Amino acid sequence: MRVVLCGVGGVGRNVTRLLRARPDYRVAAACSRNPALVGRDIGELAGVPPLGVAVSGDLDTALREPADLLLVATTSFLSQVAGDVRRGIERGLNVITTAEEAAFPWIIDAELAGQLDELARARGVSVIGVGLNPGFIFDALLLTASGIAWDVRAIRIGRVVDVSRFSAAIQRRLGIGFTAERFAAGVEAGSITGHVGFPQSFHLAARCLGVRIERIESGFEPLIADRPHDGENLRVEPGTTAGFVQRYRAICGGRPWMSAEFVAHVDPPAAGYEAADSIHVDGYNTLNLAIDPGCQPQLGTAAMIANVMPRLAEARPGYLTVADLALPHARPTTDAFT
Ligand SMILES: NC(=O)c1ccc[n+]([C@@H]2O[C@H](COP(=O)([O-])OP(=O)(O)OC[C@H]3O[C@@H](n4cnc5c(N)ncnc54)[C@H](OP(=O)(O)O)[C@@H]3O)[C@@H](O)[C@H]2O)c1
Repeated sequence: MRVVLCGVGGVGRNVTRLLRARPDYRVAAACSRNPALVGRDIGELAGVPPLGVAVSGDLDTALREPADLLLVATTSFLSQVAGDVRRGIERGLNVITTAEEAAFPWIIDAELAGQLDELARARGVSVIGVGLNPGFIFDALLLTASGIAWDVRAIRIGRVVDVSRFSAAIQRRLGIGFTAERFAAGVEAGSITGHVGFPQSFHLAARCLGVRIERIESGFEPLIADRPHDGENLRVEPGTTAGFVQRYRAICGGRPWMSAEFVAHVDPPAAGYEAADSIHVDGYNTLNLAIDPGCQPQLGTAAMIANVMPRLAEARPGYLTVADLALPHARPTTDAFT
C-alpha cells in the first residue's frame, strides 16, 4: 500500500516509522505547509534512515505520485481538512484523517459530510476520520466491549493522558501554559478547545446502540501548576495551566446515558493522577474495563491508523466510521522498535 502523507508532524512521523517496518506498505509522498520541513527526507524527520521521499510544499505535488491512500494529519477541524480530503478522493485514493471532528462529521456539517460521502461513492473510495480517541478507546474498543452486553443502560468512560509529548501548537490549542484568566478568555474565544471529539464518540455509540441523544452537556476546568514543568516541546511556568479536566454528558430520555471524564496533563502524577483509561458499561451484565497504564497517545494513534489502512481498502465506498470496518488489528512487522 502506497501512502501519501498530508502533514508531517507527530502523527505523520510516527506513521512513517511504523509503515517502514510493514513489508507491504510504504510512504510514497509527503507534504507540509511548514517551509522548514519542505525538502527534508521523511525518513530522517521520523528518526529512521532516509526513505528517498522529500517533503513537498503542497498536496498537489505529493498527489502526483502513484498511491493508494491519503493520510491527512494536520488539524482537528472538519472545515480545515475537508479540502485536502476532497482532493484525495478526487485523485481516487482512500482517505484517513485524524481530525477529531471528522470521526463523526454529520454533527459538525451534515451538508459537507454528505458531499464528501457522495463524492467518495462516485469515485469508489472510502473515507474515515480515525485515531486513538476518537477512533479506538471510546469508539472501536467501547463498541467491541458492548459486544458481550445484553443491554446498555449507561456508559461511563474515563481517560487520563500525558500530553507532554504533543507539539507546542497542539498543547497551546488544548489549553496548556496559560494563566487562569487567559485560559478562560481563550475558551470563551474558541482558541482554546481542550480535547476535541467527545460528541463524535458519543454520537457514534448512540447510533450503533440505537439511542437518540437529546443534548450534550460539558465542563472544562484548568489544572494550575505549582511548579515548573520542562517538557520537550513546551515549558509550563508555575501559576499557569499544566493540564485540565473535561467532563461531558450525553442526555437521552431525560437522563445521563453516556458520560466522560478526561484529564490531560503534562505530568499527571504531579497533579495526583496516573495515565489510565476506563470503560464502564452498565446493564444486566455490567462490564468494567480498565487499561493501566492508559493507551499511549502517540504510539496508539499511529498503530490505529496503520491497522485501519487495510480495513479501509476492503470496506465499501463512502464516508465511513470505525463501526463500519472489520476489526483493525496489528500486522507483521520487521522491526523490534528498540
Ligand atoms: N483522533 C485522534 O485520536 C488523534 C490522534 C492524534 C492526533 N490527532 C489530531 O491530528 C492532528 C495532527 O496531530 P499531530 O500530533 O501530528 O500534530 P502536530 O505535531 O502539531 O503536526 C501537525 C502538522 O500539520 C500542520 N498543520 C497544522 N494546521 C494545518 C492546516 N490548517 N493546514 C495544513 N497543515 C497544518 C502543522 O504545520 P506547522 O508546523 O506549520 O504548524 C504541523 O506540521 C491534530 O489536530 C491532532 O489533534 C487526532
